[in-house]
Amino acid sequence: MIKPFGSDQLNPLYVSDDAQRAALLEEAASLPQLTVNSAAAANAVMLAGGYFNPLTGYMNLADSLSVAKDMQTTDGLFWPVPIVNLTDDTSIKAGGRIALRDPNVAGQPVLAIMDVVAVEAVSDAEIDIMAENIFGTLDGNHPGVATFKGLGRTMLSGPIQVLNFSYFKNEFPETFRTAVEIRDEIASRGWEKVVAFQTRNPMHRAHEELCRMAMEDLKADGILIHMLLGKLKAGDIPADVRDAAIRKMVELYFPANTVMITGYGFDMLYAGPREAVLHAVFRQNCGCTHLIVGRDHAGVGDYYGGFDAQVIFDRVPTGALQLEIYKADHTAYSKKLNRVVMMKDAPDHSKDDFVLLSGTKVREMLGQGIAPPPEFSRPEVAKILSDYYQALDNAG
Ligand code: ADX
Repeated sequence: MIKPFGSDQLNPLYVSDDAQRAALLEEAASLPQLTVNSAAAANAVMLAGGYFNPLTGYMNLADSLSVAKDMQTTDGLFWPVPIVNLTDDTSIKAGGRIALRDPNVAGQPVLAIMDVVAVEAVSDAEIDIMAENIFGTLDGNHPGVATFKGLGRTMLSGPIQVLNFSYFKNEFPETFRTAVEIRDEIASRGWEKVVAFQTRNPMHRAHEELCRMAMEDLKADGILIHMLLGKLKAGDIPADVRDAAIRKMVELYFPANTVMITGYGFDMLYAGPREAVLHAVFRQNCGCTHLIVGRDHAGVGDYYGGFDAQVIFDRVPTGALQLEIYKADHTAYSKKLNRVVMMKDAPDHSKDDFVLLSGTKVREMLGQGIAPPPEFSRPEVAKILSDYYQALDNAG
């Protein structure tokens, strides 16, 4: 099986020993307490599950700036996005241990214990340098930029021990999986070549077909549909609805035992190319050999070029990443060929030869109870989405 990213063994930061966890929880009660922001909590959950292997905790300012600018830590580890714990709380002192409390669970239970190695003030200019490098823009209308700039100006860095998986295990028991669990399942299925499909949306025909094309082109043993379960911008479809739609599609349209449907606990960054590289890093940690990167991967609005998230992989130093990218061109249903194709494979087609619908148009149709054409959406998938939108519209 493919090795984890950056080390021979996966080193999840979740404390799996019950007695040790109980002892840490007891210790936490006597430590300074800090309720972290959702981004820092999501980082802890990813570190807990082995997704962010080989990191051992939150980055310091020098590493964060270096990662943002050059995609590597000061020690030379290739890494695409700073993994940080930024806060506006200025009461924490370096050198001690603190309890990190979860902002996303009622009562803010302890999520992790952190050894605070450094506490650093971050200037607005440094925040901007990081934001501009990560997101390619400083536009406050970009949801990722807005979130990042609001995280705080004090950076706490150091190793963490994580005590639970926030709300993800309880809310998505069938779907949330750690990288450790995914690796184990891939091994037990005997799969060698595994393609990951990143998604934060319900899957329409184009997405379904992309998975099939990647499977066939790569002669893969299986596909890991791996959906984001954390926070999204307003208007995006909630994880439980996407999950139901994806499960229905797989049940009806994929051969048994070729697909694993799973999810991970992270908030969407909308960082386009940089997030695509992060996606690749953590899919390697999950044991996948390939990641599908298509059009406007992890993008939002018009901030990124359609295929910037593929081009950025040219900047990954040789040998840093073992997982390979499956580059997908814009994919849509061809009315001429009566099937979903990549546009590059249909050079004689004009735009009108494809069934193309904007996200806004599809949302409008579903809200009115009108199913998008079957060339665009499977009817069973459309039904689940339509029920959701109609309930939403009725409630509103
Ligand atoms: S993402 O933000 O998680 O990337 P989404 O769930 O919409 O968003 O996309 C999942 C994957 O499918 C990404 O790799 C994206 O580039 C790809 N993709 C989505 N729609 C198309 C399309 N019509 N043609 C090619 N690739 C696509």
